[in-house]
Amino acid sequence: MKLAILGGSFNPPHIGHLALTSAVISLGYDRVILAPVFESPFKRGAAGASPQDRLDMLVASIPADSQLTVDDCEIRREGVSYTADTLDDVARRYYPDGKLGLVIGDDLAQDLPKWHRYEEIRQKTDIIIARRFHPFLEENNESNGKITSTGKFDLDKLQYPHRILDNAAIPISSAMIREKIAKNEPWKYFVPRGARVVIEERGLYSLFPTSSSQVSSSLVYRMEDATRSLVSPARFLHSRNVALLSVDLCAHFGLDSRRGYLAGMIHDICKSFSTRELTDIIERNGGKISKTEKKKPSLLHAPAGAFFLREKFGIQDDDILEAVRVHTVGARRMGQLAKIVFIADKIEVTRPIVRPAVREICQHTPPDISLDELFSLILDETVDFMRSKNMDVSQETLKLLDAMQRKTASD
Ligand SMILES: [Fe+2]
Ligand SMILES: [Fe+2]
Repeated sequence: MKLAILGGSFNPPHIGHLALTSAVISLGYDRVILAPVFESPFKRGAAGASPQDRLDMLVASIPADSQLTVDDCEIRREGVSYTADTLDDVARRYYPDGKLGLVIGDDLAQDLPKWHRYEEIRQKTDIIIARRFHPFLEENNESNGKITSTGKFDLDKLQYPHRILDNAAIPISSAMIREKIAKNEPWKYFVPRGARVVIEERGLYSLFPTSSSQVSSSLVYRMEDATRSLVSPARFLHSRNVALLSVDLCAHFGLDSRRGYLAGMIHDICKSFSTRELTDIIERNGGKISKTEKKKPSLLHAPAGAFFLREKFGIQDDDILEAVRVHTVGARRMGQLAKIVFIADKIEVTRPIVRPAVREICQHTPPDISLDELFSLILDETVDFMRSKNMDVSQETLKLLDAMQRKTASD
C-alpha cells in the first residue's frame, strides 16, 4: 500500500486539510496518514486545544473514509515531535510499498534542509510540497509553486528532490478559525462536522456559550442521522421542519431549544415501521394498545416511537419521550415540551391541518398568548380539520380539547 504522511497541529482540523488529502491521494497514494503533533518544533507552546482534543477532533473528522487514517505516535511520544522519528515509527508499523510520501506546506519547503535528521528524511521519503493559503499574498492559486509564504523564495530553487502538488489553496487556516470562534464570528462550516461537535461539547477555543442545553450536540447529530436512515426523505424533511418550529417555540416560551430540536426531529422515528413491528415494540415493552389505536394503527408510531427510542438509543429524557408518545392524539396533563411538539407537528408547512392565519399566529406568537392558549387553538383546528375530512377523532383528543378550552377560559 502506498502511504503518505501529513503532519500538523490540526488545531483545529478544517476542510482545507481534508481537501489537501484528496489532492495527495490523486497522486497515486492509497492512504494518507494524518499525524497530529504533540509539540511542533516550529510552534513551541502553541495556544489552543490540548493534544488529546486535537486528536479527537481529527478522528471525528474522517468517518467512513478508508483513504484516511490518524496516527497518534507523536502524541504518545510526547515532547517535541520530530518528523524523522515519526517516519521511523510509521515505517516500522505500516510496511508501506515504496517510499513514504511526506506532505509539507510550501511555507516550510525552504527550511526543510534545517530539519532534525534532514538527510534521512530526504532519503526515506518522496517529498510533496503542497500549496498553503497565505493571507498576505494576492496570487495564491496562480502562484504555480513559484512563490512561498514569504513571497521571497522561488520553489524552483529547492536543492532536494520534490514534487509540487497542484492543490487549491483554500483560504482557511486553523488560526483564522480559532480567532473567529473566540470572537463569536461565523466559523462552524469551516471545520468537518465531527470536529465541530468536539469544539461545541468541550467549549474549545473560548467558544462563546450558545447553549446550556441538557442535551449534547453529539446526541442530536446521532439521532438526526438515525431518523434520516429510518424514515422516508419526505418524512425526514417534515421531521426537520417540526424540529425547527419546536426550536422557535421553545425559545419563545423559555424552554431548552436543543431539547426541542431533538424531540421534534425524532417524533416520527417509527413512522415507516409496519403495524406488526409497532405492535411488537409496544407489547415487548409492556405497553397497552388502546381501542382507538386498534382501529387506527397509524397512530401506533407515536407510543412505539417512545419505547423504541429508549430501547434502541437509550434516551431517558421523560419530557422528550412524552412528546413523542403523545404527538398524535395528545394526552391529559401534557408537559410543555409535549405541547410544543404537538403544535409544531400540526403547523408544519407540508401539512394542511391549520389555516394560514393560525400558522402565522404560531410563528409570530404574540407575547400575551400562553402556551396553553396556543395549544388549545391548534387542538381546536386539528379537530375541525379532521371533522371536515370525515376522519374519526379519538375520545382522548375530544376530552383533551374540552379540558383545554375550560382551562384557558378560566385562566
Ligand atoms: Fe406522527
Ligand atoms: Fe409528524
